Amino acid sequence: MASSSPSSMVINVSFVLFVFLLMNSSSAQLSTNFYSKTCPKLLDTAKSVVKYAVSKERRMGASLLRLHFHDCFVNGCDGSILLDDTSSFTGEKTAGPNNNSVRGFNVINDIKSKVEGICPGVVSCADIVAIAARDSVEVLGGPTWEVKLGRRDSKTASFSAANSGVIPPPSSTLDNLINRFQAVGLSTKDMVALSGAHTIGQARCLLFRTRIYNETNIDSSFAKKKQGSCPFPSGSGDNNLAPLDLESPTVFDNEYYKNLINQKGLLHSDQILHNGGSTDSLVEKYSQSSNTFNSDFTAAMVKMGDISPLTGSKGEIRKKCWKVNS
Ligand code: HEM
Ligand SMILES: *[C@@H]1O[C@H](CO)[C@@H](O)[C@H](O)[C@H]1NC(C)=O
Ligand SMILES: *[C@@H]1O[C@H](CO)[C@@H](O)[C@H](O)[C@H]1NC(C)=O
Repeated sequence: MASSSPSSMVINVSFVLFVFLLMNSSSAQLSTNFYSKTCPKLLDTAKSVVKYAVSKERRMGASLLRLHFHDCFVNGCDGSILLDDTSSFTGEKTAGPNNNSVRGFNVINDIKSKVEGICPGVVSCADIVAIAARDSVEVLGGPTWEVKLGRRDSKTASFSAANSGVIPPPSSTLDNLINRFQAVGLSTKDMVALSGAHTIGQARCLLFRTRIYNETNIDSSFAKKKQGSCPFPSGSGDNNLAPLDLESPTVFDNEYYKNLINQKGLLHSDQILHNGGSTDSLVEKYSQSSNTFNSDFTAAMVKMGDISPLTGSKGEIRKKCWKVNS
């Protein structure tokens, strides 16, 4: 200390700050105002497309929210889920968790084509997916939040990564759910709050058949009712749909958690969140307070949107969301 003059200390402090900012730059580049100069009409444009799509089919809001989750959990939020298969790679669309299941690509493409019309070559598909997820929740009556932007699009996609279990299956144990979220930097609380996304949307019979016929932590009249549209001989009715939230499947609210307390979770992975384990108390808290649920859900959505984005000069801004630029 005795040897540093006040002015050299100022230099040292700013040098340390500079190095710190440099080191941090790969993870700190998303920002809520990323396109405010380069595409000021982006958010209004996206919202009008989402509003229209959801007015035509309420379920589309659920599908768009899930698309962001499945994008982010496989190699980060990089738009990889949107890529069609090519001769050089098999993409994520037909991987187990996605095949005949993820939806909403046309809405993303519609937003992209409108946005290309007003600010060509500027906005990534990965960001459009994040914005559409936020708008969907809001349009279905849920909370809203500021979406961080500045992700770039991947130049490839991976069938094997999407199939590797990074997206947990509905047969998961509670430990597996916790571990899969932890692997991408999300806490147990984030996991329980994000599972509240199952307050909207539908699931196929083949994914809840075992639960409604063979599990014991299920309300018996609920199980009987679901059995009516999901027959036992497996194969028949596999694609029949049931709402994830029996009470209000097209409204984003906290009914999902009340269902779990009443043993009316549709998926095994839903009910396991309230089954005598470590997450029971969070489920009870969210069932009692939609404010707490909303604030934990929105915070967790921002965290999920931060998973390994491509920033700076990595990746590209695709011209079409379903293929890489040539
Ligand atoms: C905790 C682990 C999770 C598991 C095991 C899981 C599993 C599932 C399954 C099996 C389906 C039905 C798929 C089908 O029938 O084809 C589904 C649907 C859905 N999931 Fe999840 N999910 C999880 C977390 C999430 C998260 C974090 C979100 C979003 C933040 C989300 C949003 C949705 C939505 C909105 C639907 C309905 C989609 C539609 O109707 O098109 N899920 N999920
Ligand atoms: C995806 O689903 C289609 C239609 O059911 C099926 O023919 C195809 O084999 C599935 N793809 C994979 C990779 O499982
Ligand atoms: C329920 O369990 C029995 C006995 O283990 C099994 O044979 C049957 O396939 C299961 N049913 C479903 C729908 O998983």
